[in-house]
Amino acid sequence: MASFAKFASLLATFQCVVALSLGNPLERNLAYRSPFEEHPQFARDTGAIQKRHMQAFRKRQTVPAGTFGDEHYPTFYGGDFSNTLFLWNAGVNFTHAVASGDPLSTSVLLWTRAVPLPSTTPSNPSSTPFLPDQSVPVCVKFEIATDNAFKHVVDSGNAFTSYDVDFTVKVEANGLKADTSYFYRFSDCTNASIMSPVGKTRTFSDANTPASKVNGGKPLTLAVFSCSQYQAGWFNAYNFAATNVTPDAFLHLGDYIYESLGNGAKIGRAVLGRELATIHDYRQRLNQYRTDVGLVNAHLAGPWITVWDDHEVADNSWKAGTADSNDTSTGCSFSPSGACFTDRKLAAVRAYHEWMPIRQVAADDKLRIWRNFQIGQLLDLTMLDTRNYDRDVTDVYYNTVVNTLADGQNRSLMGPAQENWFFDTLSQSKKRGAIWRVVGQQIVFTQLNESGVFDLDAWDGYRQNRARVLSHLYNNKIDNTVILSGDSHANWVSDLAHPNDTTTYNSATGKGAIGVEFAGTAVTSGSSFGSGIQPAAADAISKVYVTAKGNEDLQWSEGSYRGFFTLQISTKTLTATYYAMNNVSNPNLDGFASAQFVVNSGENRLSRPIAGGSVKAGVLKSQA
Ligand SMILES: *[C@@H]1O[C@H](CO)[C@@H](O)[C@H](O)[C@H]1NC(C)=O
Ligand SMILES: *[C@@H]1O[C@H](CO)[C@@H](O)[C@H](O)[C@H]1NC(C)=O
Ligand SMILES: *[C@@H]1O[C@H](CO)[C@@H](O)[C@H](O)[C@H]1NC(C)=O
Ligand SMILES: *[C@@H]1O[C@H](CO)[C@@H](O)[C@H](O)[C@H]1NC(C)=O
Ligand SMILES: *[C@@H]1O[C@H](CO)[C@@H](O)[C@H](O)[C@H]1NC(C)=O
Ligand SMILES: *[C@@H]1O[C@H](CO)[C@@H](O)[C@H](O)[C@H]1NC(C)=O
Ligand SMILES: *[C@@H]1O[C@H](CO)[C@@H](O)[C@H](O)[C@H]1NC(C)=O
Repeated sequence: MASFAKFASLLATFQCVVALSLGNPLERNLAYRSPFEEHPQFARDTGAIQKRHMQAFRKRQTVPAGTFGDEHYPTFYGGDFSNTLFLWNAGVNFTHAVASGDPLSTSVLLWTRAVPLPSTTPSNPSSTPFLPDQSVPVCVKFEIATDNAFKHVVDSGNAFTSYDVDFTVKVEANGLKADTSYFYRFSDCTNASIMSPVGKTRTFSDANTPASKVNGGKPLTLAVFSCSQYQAGWFNAYNFAATNVTPDAFLHLGDYIYESLGNGAKIGRAVLGRELATIHDYRQRLNQYRTDVGLVNAHLAGPWITVWDDHEVADNSWKAGTADSNDTSTGCSFSPSGACFTDRKLAAVRAYHEWMPIRQVAADDKLRIWRNFQIGQLLDLTMLDTRNYDRDVTDVYYNTVVNTLADGQNRSLMGPAQENWFFDTLSQSKKRGAIWRVVGQQIVFTQLNESGVFDLDAWDGYRQNRARVLSHLYNNKIDNTVILSGDSHANWVSDLAHPNDTTTYNSATGKGAIGVEFAGTAVTSGSSFGSGIQPAAADAISKVYVTAKGNEDLQWSEGSYRGFFTLQISTKTLTATYYAMNNVSNPNLDGFASAQFVVNSGENRLSRPIAGGSVKAGVLKSQA
C-alpha cells in the first residue's frame, strides 16, 4: 500500500490521471510473487517496477516526442489498467499457447506468455522495427467460460507482464463451479483481436462430495508422466495422452526439463544454451521444451499437477547440492558463470514457477511444493517433494559413503516437516472417509535388486524412511494407498510390503500387502536397462529382476518402451494402464497399451491374476 500511495502522489504531481483503479494488475500476475508465501524476499518488487513505469513516464515528459518515437506507449487515463501510464500496444505474440494447473473445486491457475511484437513507427512504416524498452509492461486479458464461443464467461480480468518474469502470465481464475469443464483464453488488452489459442481445463469436486458423485459419477482419469528429456526424443507420450486418452488431469512426477546438453541434433532436437546455471539458462530451456507440439497439445488439453525431481535443478540434487556442485565445497567452480549451488537452485525454482501452472503453496517453509488435493471423498492426491526440499545427501557418484548411510535411522528424503505432514495427510484422508490415497512422488519406492545393484538415489538409499512410511500405513490400518513414481526410466509394478518380509506378505497371492506402487517409464529419457534397448533384450533382464532375491514385491518389469500410464479411479476399482510409444525419434502417435492392472478397493494389492495374466511388453513375476 505504501508504494501505491507514493505512486498516487507522483501522479498528482503530473496532474494527468483522473482515476486510479484499485487492484494492481502487476500483482494479479502470480509470476511476480515469491513462490513461497513465507519468503517474500523471492518476490519481484512490484513497487519498484511500478516506479520504473513512472520514471519512463517522467522521461517522456521531458524528451521531445519527435525524437522519442513512443507511439506505442499510449496512456490509458482512467481506464481499467490505469495504474501504469504506458502499455505496449503494437501487439503481442502468445508464443507458447496456454496452460492450466492445480485445479481446486472453485479455482484453477491459467498460464500464458505474451511477448511484445516489434513495430515500426506508425508515421514511418519503413523505419526500423523496435521493441519497447524494459519499462513498458504488456497487458493481457484472461477469460474463462463454460463454452468455447465464450458466450458464458465466468471470470475475467487484466494482468500485466514484463521482461522481469520472462513475459509469463499466471492468474488464478476464481468463482468456478466444482467438477466442471471450462474453456479459457488470453487476449491483448489494447487489441482484443489478438488472442491466444483456447485451452480446456476443469475443476475437481469439492472435498465433501460423496465418492460416487465425483466426476459426475464417471471414473476419474489421471495421466502420469516423468522424465521428458528433449534431446532424447519427441514428446509423443504427451500427444498420445492428449489425443487418445483425454485424461481429466495430467500429472508430472518430475524431470520435466533436463539441465544437461546432449546430442539431440540427429533427430532435430539440439538443445539451446549450455548446462543450466542462471535464470536465463533455465528460462531458455523451459522455453525450448515448451515448443514441442506434443507438450503444447497436452497443456492445451487439460490441467496439470506437477512436482519437480532433480533435473529441474541439476542431476541427483539433494537439499544442499547436486552431482556437480554443492554448498559445502568452497568456491563456486561449477558453472561457467560461477553460480553457487544455492543461486543455481534459486534460479531453477524461479524459472519453474514462472513457466509452470503450479500454485504457490501456502507455505511456512522454504521451497515447498508438496501439497494435497482432496477430490471429493473418492481420493486424496498427495504430491511430495522427495528431492529438493529437505533431502539428506544422496548418491552423487563419487561419494561411495552413501552405501554405508543407506540404513541410517535418521536419513530423510522429505525432511521432518514434510514427513510429518505426509503422515498426517494420510491419516486425515482415512479419517475423512476418502476411498483412495494416491501419492505422486519422484523416485521408485519398492526395493529393487537390479542384479546386485540398489539405486541409492531412490528409496533404496533411505531404507528407514521407507520403513517409516510402510509402518505408518500398517500401524494405522490405512487402506488403498497407491504410490506413483518416475525417475527410473523403466516400468515397475509392485505390491507394497516391507522389503524381504515373506512372513506377513505372500508374493503369489498378495496377502499381507498394504497398497501398490505404479512406477512409470520415461516420456523420452533413455532406458536404465541401456539406452535404445530392444524389447527382447529388455525382457531378458526383466526376467532376472522379477525372480531375483530381494524383489519379492515386484510383480511386473518392463524396460524397453518410452511412454506413460493412466489411472482410472472409481469407488470400487483403480485401474492402471501402461502405454508404450513405438518410436520417439520422430513426432508420431504410434503407441499401444502394454499392460493393465486392477486394484480392488479394500484389497491393498494388485488383483490376481496380475494384469489378467498377460502383458504385451515386459515380464510378469507370475510368468517368469
Ligand atoms: C510468435 O512466436 C512464435 C514462437 O516463438 C514464432 O514462431 C512466431 O514467428 C512469432 N510470431 C511473430 C509474428 O513474431
Ligand atoms: C489489432 O490486431 C490486428 C491483428 O494483428 C491488426 O490487424 C489490427 O490492425 C490491430 N488493430 C489496431 C488498432 O492496432
Ligand atoms: C561437495 O563438493 C566437494 C567438491 O566437489 C566434494 O569434495 C564434497 O565431497 C562434496 N560434498 C558432498 C556432501 O557431496
Ligand atoms: C536420530 O533420531 C533419534 C530418534 O528420533 C534421535 O534420538 C537421535 O538424536 C537422532 N540422531 C541424530 C544424529 O540426529
Ligand atoms: C540380487 O539378485 C541377484 C540375482 O540377480 C542375487 O544373486 C543376489 O543375491 C541378490 N541380492 C540380494 C541382496 O538379495
Ligand atoms: C533385504 O535383504 C538384503 C539381503 O538379503 C539386504 O541387502 C537388504 O538391505 C534388505 N532390505 C532391507 C530393507 O532390509
Ligand atoms: C524411428 O524413427 C526414425 C526417425 O524417423 C527412423 O530412422 C527409424 O527407422 C524408426 N525406427 C523404427 C523402429 O521404426
